[in-house]
Amino acid sequence: MLQIAYTSRAAGSFGEADYNSLIGQARSNNERDGLTGLILFDGSRFLQAIEGPKASTSHCMARIASDGRHHDIDIVKQGDIRDRDFANF
Ligand SMILES: Cc1cc2nc3c(=O)[nH]c(=O)nc-3n(C[C@H](O)[C@H](O)[C@H](O)COP(=O)(O)O)c2cc1C
Repeated sequence: MLQIAYTSRAAGSFGEADYNSLIGQARSNNERDGLTGLILFDGSRFLQAIEGPKASTSHCMARIASDGRHHDIDIVKQGDIRDRDFANF
């Protein structure tokens, strides 16, 4: 399995309602794709980790990286894992 963690900065207009809808979208996609992880949002910055099968994880990261709702994406960790660190998203 692959695990990727990154930080990013939310787009200026991004608010609480946007965050709630993002989480709903991420949760349903990640269940479908066998991904688990963690996301933190402090009102302006994100910290997210995603983990799961290699292909699903890198495809998900590619979608996230091209999403206009955030920018300044900085990958802080990327590597193979044997066991998941986050059982639930
Ligand atoms: C900070 C942030 C975190 C995201 N996390 C996820 C995620 O964990 N899983 C996911 O599928 N999409 C995530 N997205 C959304 C993707 O960028 C993309 O919009 C989505 O995967 C497209 O899904 P759809 O094909 O169902 O429209 C995230 C977007 C942002 C801005």
